[in-house]
Amino acid sequence: MTSAKGLEGVVVASTAISHVFGEEGRLVYRGYAISELASKASYEEVCYLLWHGHLPNRAELDGLNATMRVRRELPEAALATLRALPKSAGPMDALRSVASVVGAALPIDGKPTYDQAVQITAIFPTIVAAFNRLRNGKEPLAPDATLGHAANYLYMLTGERPPENHVKSLDTYLVLLADHSMNASTFTARVIASTESDLASCVVGAVGALKGPLHGGAPELVMDMLDEIKSADNIHPWVDDALNSGKKLMGFGHRVYRTTDPRAEILREMARQASSAEFFALARGTEQYAIQELNRRKPERRLYTNVEFYSAAVLNSVGLPRDLFPSTFAVSRVAGWTAHVLEQLVGNRLIRPQSEYTGPEGLKFVPVEQR
Ligand SMILES: CC(C)(COP(=O)(O)OP(=O)(O)OC[C@H]1O[C@@H](n2cnc3c(N)ncnc32)[C@H](O)[C@@H]1OP(=O)(O)O)[C@@H](O)C(=O)NCCC(=O)NCCS
Repeated sequence: MTSAKGLEGVVVASTAISHVFGEEGRLVYRGYAISELASKASYEEVCYLLWHGHLPNRAELDGLNATMRVRRELPEAALATLRALPKSAGPMDALRSVASVVGAALPIDGKPTYDQAVQITAIFPTIVAAFNRLRNGKEPLAPDATLGHAANYLYMLTGERPPENHVKSLDTYLVLLADHSMNASTFTARVIASTESDLASCVVGAVGALKGPLHGGAPELVMDMLDEIKSADNIHPWVDDALNSGKKLMGFGHRVYRTTDPRAEILREMARQASSAEFFALARGTEQYAIQELNRRKPERRLYTNVEFYSAAVLNSVGLPRDLFPSTFAVSRVAGWTAHVLEQLVGNRLIRPQSEYTGPEGLKFVPVEQR
């Protein structure tokens, strides 16, 4: 028996929720092209689509909006946990910890349900926003039930009603990131679901998987990279130096795409509109040279821009601090995680793969005094 490193090419589940066509650079949610959803659907409509398999009619959408808006408040235990976190806790640590407390406090237990999926998706932005305010010495704000999901998230962060262009940008970002077939965090959520655990546990595990820089932790590192590059004349030496010393360029490469990630194409246009001309020229110049060099050095891998590269510019343009980028990714992806958990439970079978044993055999136990 041999192992497929990183499970590359291994099909671990059937899903009707979303699919990545890696060769063509296409992503579909429930049959709809991401490009169409990005320009036409709200995040709440996409949540409904992912959970139910069809776009909501007016009454269904109004119903979901009304429910999500009254499910945003944090339980007291969650606020107390946020206040008790050490100063060194990062936003993803806070989200992971407080999502767990929310699960225990509400409670979110037993067999995962659609109602719980709505609840946990509705409350995610409140956790992130409350954490951000507390670490800046400000009191958390109560959610504003007159605002949609994206607008309310921005409001709870800043205390001001956000400008329409920021709301639109963030809403589109949330649509684009809401699901992505069998990515690492979604797989994590499905593995936990397959043990018949509760929905909060699935989501907490998924947040942990998303935190790593090979998954959702990349966009703040993209901003750090662009800061270091600083000016157009430094792009070539910086990229050459990074690749010569074996570093990975954040925002490039993907396990499934063999061309540009379609979400990156959309985010690039959004970044072009929303950023300063100088910043966009730096980002675009870096992208172009990075692709040229990655493909010259590793032609067989076909490495292109992934979603994280321009996510960074778009989230920056709506005023989010860069260390909130991964938790904002989670604010979006929680819809996909919960949809996958519900799907996993239909005809569930425990996910329990095997491993290739490479350790020794036949060793004789020696008592501790004789070792
Ligand atoms: C996304 C990612 C984890 C995919 O990983 P993967 O499918 O396991 O790809 P591999 O790590 O096997 O990469 C294949 C080769 O291309 C190289 N490569 C892949 N992405 C690279 C990048 N961004 N910069 C430089 N080299 C890269 C690898 O070093 C590897 O080289 P090797 O064959 O000499 O070891 C990987 O491309 C990466 O780390 N990208 C940077 C982080 C990032 O943008 N994360 C967000 C993902 S949405």
